[in-house]
Amino acid sequence: MRTRLLALCLLLTAACTPKTPVTGSWDLCPQPRNLEENGESFMLKKAFPKGITTVIDASLGQELKPFQQAECYRLEVTSKGIRLTAATETGILRGMQTLEKALPATLQEGEAAVLPGAAVYDYPEFPYRAFMLDCGRHFFPVETIKKVLDILALHQVNEFHWHLTEDQGWRLEIKKYPKLTEIGSWRAGSPVAGQPGHDGVPVSGFYTQEEARDIVAYAAARGIEVIPEIDLPGHMKAALASYPELGCTGGPYEVACEYGVLDDVLCAGREHTLEFVHDVLEEVMDIFPSRYIHLGGDECPKVRWEACPHCQAKIKELGLKADGHKTAEELLQSWFMDQAIAQLEASGRQAIIWNDVLVDWSNEVIGAPSKKAVIAGWMRPVSTEIAVREGYEAILCPVGHLYLSAADGNALKGDAYFRRVYDLPVPEGILGVEACLWSERVPNEEDILWKLLPRLSAVSELQWNPQARNYEGFLPRLQRMEALYTARGWNWNPAE
Ligand code: ACM
Ligand code: ZN
Repeated sequence: MRTRLLALCLLLTAACTPKTPVTGSWDLCPQPRNLEENGESFMLKKAFPKGITTVIDASLGQELKPFQQAECYRLEVTSKGIRLTAATETGILRGMQTLEKALPATLQEGEAAVLPGAAVYDYPEFPYRAFMLDCGRHFFPVETIKKVLDILALHQVNEFHWHLTEDQGWRLEIKKYPKLTEIGSWRAGSPVAGQPGHDGVPVSGFYTQEEARDIVAYAAARGIEVIPEIDLPGHMKAALASYPELGCTGGPYEVACEYGVLDDVLCAGREHTLEFVHDVLEEVMDIFPSRYIHLGGDECPKVRWEACPHCQAKIKELGLKADGHKTAEELLQSWFMDQAIAQLEASGRQAIIWNDVLVDWSNEVIGAPSKKAVIAGWMRPVSTEIAVREGYEAILCPVGHLYLSAADGNALKGDAYFRRVYDLPVPEGILGVEACLWSERVPNEEDILWKLLPRLSAVSELQWNPQARNYEGFLPRLQRMEALYTARGWNWNPAE
């Protein structure tokens, strides 16, 4: 079989430079799977301008195993040159991302450098390696999202889960429902700890469809897929404020200025609520070409449904009956999610839903959503294990380990915290691993950066090659990653 082989050559310039060249290093995160230094050195006489790549046709041969072939690459650095080969363009991107990190952190264009010779053969353990950013509680400009994508690319994270709707703000333009952004993207203020009411400082903003498409393209150029989340049927207060007829009581509602789990959710019994969800998802699928679309499903109280004639009529119509483990309303949520899951499937997409629909805090199986959905286990590590046991594809993202949202800087940056991320056991048979940053207390880019970094270094090793983790070996790699962050101007430790 002949396959297109992509090869990349870094061109050398003949000019000598008088300065002592800076030296690169293979201490990087995630650590490549197979890395052997060969004792040679590659002299880069003058740093290249970006993008000197040559694409040639050749036979692929048996070199690259089929396993995770899409992201597999081979990188050879000798005194003669640098050669990068892969079966796909994504593989080339992953190799470039490794090479970029191996070059000296402070290397400037035109400078000389030495790169220790090495043979790297690398591919990830999981096809799903994600980071989630909550843009509902706070809005972040397009430029900030692009910076986050640059950071993800450096860590070979390949999925950007974009949490776009919340009680506190709807952040994506939907042409058929303009009030979602006219009304739903603005709130009057944010809660103040220990006090009633809010601070009176408005929070607003949304992404136009054009901006969202631009983000999708920017991410794709870095080998990252953007997974939008429309969180159903809870966390929908901003949508209810925009279109009160979507709720059980009919409102009026306001975009939430408090955080937490709110009782007002989409009415699961009204026909036009189902139409609304359908229409929104059609526009979402048009904007985002991703394989996965996240449908939320978390933290949906059932008090409104219990008292709602429409929801109760739907329960009756569907013949849903409490069975000792599951209430009729819990089963109604599974049914509601299934409508959206089936819509995605009919369009060749796959839904991701939070584990709440399937399993609760006490590890009880409380629902039976379609097996076509991927379950994101956020409550406990065992939530993900239970999802696998129940026959679902599943993602590991437990709050106690992989939520990067904690407010206390010391808790975030200490050795104990790192170990918690680094040593998290990975259940058998999962699709991947995701870190999440919720933004109740993350108002701006500076806060995103120092909460994301340097912990993403540890997360990336959990995602890329969890079996090879070794905390002592990780520490020098972490130090080097921190040097790379600093050199790139990413303010990862503003307290210092
Ligand atoms: C979640 O943390 N509510 C998914
Ligand atoms: Zn209802």
